[in-house]
Amino acid sequence: MTQDELKALVGQAALAHVVPGSIVGVGTGSTVNKFIDALAGIRDRIAGAVSSSQQSTARLEAHGIRVFDGNEVEHLPVYVDGADEIDHRGFMIKGGGAALTREKIVADLADRFVCIADASKLVGTLGAFALPVEIIASAQAQITRRFAALGGQATLRAGVLTDNGHPLLDVRGLSITDPLGLETEINQWPGVVSVGIFARHKARVCLLGTADGVRTLE
Ligand code: 5RP
Repeated sequence: MTQDELKALVGQAALAHVVPGSIVGVGTGSTVNKFIDALAGIRDRIAGAVSSSQQSTARLEAHGIRVFDGNEVEHLPVYVDGADEIDHRGFMIKGGGAALTREKIVADLADRFVCIADASKLVGTLGAFALPVEIIASAQAQITRRFAALGGQATLRAGVLTDNGHPLLDVRGLSITDPLGLETEINQWPGVVSVGIFARHKARVCLLGTADGVRTLE
């Protein structure tokens, strides 16, 4: 199976986690696009979606799925999103698609994070994928120095601003053995809007696309 087929497989499998009649939290990325396409098939059985990006909003609306603002809902039963890396504990690196801040905001509304990913995303230790960090531009140099002190090399993602209008750093060279601790520490640094470590908002279940079908990690 191709990577694209594996993404379609888990996108379809995630429908089993959607609560009928509810508003669904929807992430961002090529795997989530497959989920959105699958969701279109049951659009009459859901109330709508809260989206984590302009990209996902456009795709949802093109399928005739109503998109609610996050401020309109108090909680969501389920949030479905992809990951750049996920470990066996459900801790993730996210933000490869620059949507990390809104992804965390929507994940925070949800009772349950359902991660969908192809098998290449499963790792022993997070950090081989460069860690995305959304920042306030005037803090770039200081945040870069802070990462250097931790052994990380931060570079600006050229030509990219988030949906919130902020730049992003990608940090290479970190071996993230304590995702919860590092997320907490980076969140304290002035100028960090959000860090792409999802430890406090980890996946409760991961649907992993493998050559043998969907493997569920809980
Ligand atoms: C976007 C994300 C995505 O979930 C992550 O980049 C995975 O994307 P894809 O499904 O295209 O591999 O965090 O900010």
